Amino acid sequence: MAKEPARILVTGAAGQIGYALVPMIARGIMLGPDQPVILHMLDIPPAAEALNGVKMELIDAAFPLLKGIVATTDPVEACSGVNIAVMVGGFPRKEGMERKDVMSKNVSIYKSQASALEQHAAPNCKVLVVANPANTNALILKEFAPSIPEKNVTCLTRLDHNRALGQILERLHVPVSNVKNVIIWGNHSSSQYPDVYHASVVTGAGEKPVRELVADDAWLDGEFITTVQQRGAAIIKARKLSSALSAASSACDHIRDWVLGTPKGTFVSMGVYSDGSYDVPPGIIFSYPVTCENGSWSIVQGLPINEFSRKKLDATANELVEEKALAYSCLN
Ligand SMILES: NC(=O)c1ccc[n+]([C@@H]2O[C@H](COP(=O)([O-])OP(=O)(O)OC[C@H]3O[C@@H](n4cnc5c(N)ncnc54)[C@H](O)[C@@H]3O)[C@@H](O)[C@H]2O)c1
Repeated sequence: MAKEPARILVTGAAGQIGYALVPMIARGIMLGPDQPVILHMLDIPPAAEALNGVKMELIDAAFPLLKGIVATTDPVEACSGVNIAVMVGGFPRKEGMERKDVMSKNVSIYKSQASALEQHAAPNCKVLVVANPANTNALILKEFAPSIPEKNVTCLTRLDHNRALGQILERLHVPVSNVKNVIIWGNHSSSQYPDVYHASVVTGAGEKPVRELVADDAWLDGEFITTVQQRGAAIIKARKLSSALSAASSACDHIRDWVLGTPKGTFVSMGVYSDGSYDVPPGIIFSYPVTCENGSWSIVQGLPINEFSRKKLDATANELVEEKALAYSCLN
């Protein structure tokens, strides 16, 4: 029997990531080839015409899984009955703007969209925040939607995770399916810590640690980390636009694994509400290694953390604590 369609909200749907993301969702890349979808697309009034253009293109593409389209500038209509919300819309940092000014704009957007979701989304709606500052926008959304379970509000660090995988693949010339368990800890910012101490590669001679196969600690502790941390800036320099197709693809990976589960023995990185695991302060949205089963994530516990990693985890956690204080100062 055909499944009931899932309603998926994409905010900022007329933007760059939105334009790459909605066809992926309509093709079944997010929820699988047997899951029909109804797309809910939200943008702001100045982008209404462009949003209508995206809707026209979705109709023209005649996607078999796409059972309906809601394209609107009304957050209530957009959020009504959605099972999954991918929050891509936000206020970008413009030249000359202070960090606090950008934070203030995004805090007010995420506060009001939290209420719309809380009141109108389907029960148990899963939320993924993509728009920057992603971790802190997600935290504000969680705080202002108290009836949405805190485990349902996450932010995207899967792009950073995939970037880390990409660097290892380029170095070792192995297929992506053979590499697992890289980790992104912390903030989706340049303070994030891409960690390969627990990563391994399946080889003809069994599973081997990435560190052993790469056999270049100087690269792994230096250039590898900075390349992943600064990949977003490198894309902007090359494209004169920020990453969009890789962000959209990673957002699909994040939701797919969350809903359908991670393969046994494999973990992925997700920004989730910290419970104090790994001595990270509780009460921030922090990227952790997680496994997913039955639509729920769990933080991987018990990984040994050496002194090098500890310092990097603390630095990115401190940045998030400071961002949280800045966000709260914007509320007053
Ligand atoms: N977490 C990640 O890995 C990651 C990666 C890449 C980009 N990003 C972030 O994703 C966001 C979107 O990037 P983009 O390249 O698509 O930007 P974009 O400027 O092309 O699109 C953003 C869209 O959001 C809309 N928007 C603004 N305010 C809104 C609101 N209140 N409600 C609904 N829509 C609203 C804009 O009109 C625009 O259409 C940015 O914040 C970017 O920094 C995050």
